[in-house]
Amino acid sequence: MQRPVPVRVDEEQIRALPKAELHVHLEGAFALIDLLTLAKENGVALPGPAATLFDVGTHDVFEIPEVTTGEGGTGVGTGGLSGFLRFLDWECGLVRTADQAFRVAYSFAARQSASGIRYSDVIVNPTHWSAWRGRELALVDAFAAGFDSAEEDGLCAVGVAYSLLRSQSASEAEDIVRSLIETRLRRVVALSVDGDEKTTGRTGEKFRDAFRLAAAGGLHRTVHAGESSGPEGVWDAIDLLGAERIDHGIRAIEDEALVQRLVADGITLNVCPRSNVALGVYPDWASHPLPRLLDAGVAVTLNTDDPAPLGTTLETDWSVASVEFGLGLDDLVGFAARSIDASFADDDLKARLRADLTAAAVETASGGDAR
Ligand code: ADE
Ligand code: ZN
Repeated sequence: MQRPVPVRVDEEQIRALPKAELHVHLEGAFALIDLLTLAKENGVALPGPAATLFDVGTHDVFEIPEVTTGEGGTGVGTGGLSGFLRFLDWECGLVRTADQAFRVAYSFAARQSASGIRYSDVIVNPTHWSAWRGRELALVDAFAAGFDSAEEDGLCAVGVAYSLLRSQSASEAEDIVRSLIETRLRRVVALSVDGDEKTTGRTGEKFRDAFRLAAAGGLHRTVHAGESSGPEGVWDAIDLLGAERIDHGIRAIEDEALVQRLVADGITLNVCPRSNVALGVYPDWASHPLPRLLDAGVAVTLNTDDPAPLGTTLETDWSVASVEFGLGLDDLVGFAARSIDASFADDDLKARLRADLTAAAVETASGGDAR
């Protein structure tokens, strides 16, 4: 692809593009004020000074051995996925009532709207929310109420990807999927799996039947792979789990046949460069394979993963990507279009968002380039 001279696309222009975000965890999107309020409501001590709560790597309690920092961030230090997941456990453990869960969901939709995100698939992994063990569906129901209320108020529409943790058993996973299908919980659109593949090894076979049940029951499938695993995790996600989308998937670049397969099957990679740098998958943005994946013709979307502890927003990351990867506004309009196309939103909403994006792109092109 012929790339323009790298110029940073302005965040305001990016906010103005109607778009979807497809790879973002509710666990990683708490506003600092919400977290402080929850800790106070529950009488829970903070792991460190309030102002540095999201500097995960500086809190001994999460036992993180080393600290790395991503470009353009706020000095968020995270020394690895496992320690980072422990921080998410701590945050989510503060949510104990349906009202608190409602507020977290509402606040998420507001945060997304502030970035010009009109629809978001959000990954929710109930194993992080320790107060809800055995009541996971009630937790998701409380989130759904928050998302409903937010949408009624004109905020971003949200679909939930219910996520299994990699360390769960096959039978737990299948029971969860059966209950999701039986209860038809509103807002739940997909089954997901996340967590650290380095600590569990390959889990494709273990979750094969759960994902087969999900597909038969009308749920979409999105799978974390090719982040803490290599290309083999991505192959398993496609061949064993029937993934329609891969969350991360960047290490597919190490296997040419896999890249061809992603292109041939039109499988979207929901990529999150800042997260990959912060969690040590790549040393810096310049080493990230996103441009090579794009050049190979893979459908790539650009996402934040865990924006709060990573100290970022979607518009910041798109703006950093524009300069790091030499992408122009046209390329970012392409990212917005792909985010809508690959989303699990219903067809009516997708059609409206596509029309709004076309109008916004025409407006931007005729209104002059503010860069
Ligand atoms: N849960 C939250 N962020 C994650 C990530 N980057 N990888 C796997 N699981 C996660
Ligand atoms: Zn993720």
